[in-house]
Amino acid sequence: MCSSRVDPEFVISAFMTGVDGVLIAACHPGNCHYVSQNYKTIKRVALLEPLLETFGINKKRLRLEFISAGEGNKFAETIDDMVSLLKELGPSPLSKSKEDK
Ligand code: FES
Repeated sequence: MCSSRVDPEFVISAFMTGVDGVLIAACHPGNCHYVSQNYKTIKRVALLEPLLETFGINKKRLRLEFISAGEGNKFAETIDDMVSLLKELGPSPLSKSKEDK
């Protein structure tokens, strides 16, 4: 629906389950269907990054990208780029600790 619906708790929960990365795709600033809610998303991601690093999660594993519905190529490129980055970073450290249990 709107990137602002991505509660920070959802992101933390995802990482705690061992996912390697989270991509939040949002409308471009100024183009949110709910006026300015994506600015809230920008602030939330900025707050989440240092929090993730306290858990040993590289902040690059969380990505906010502005992609309009008409930017299919950008969406595909973003996914490819994110997958490449996550392969480069390797599995999430929380994924490894989960396997140890
Ligand atoms: S509708 Fe809010 S970010 Fe797209």
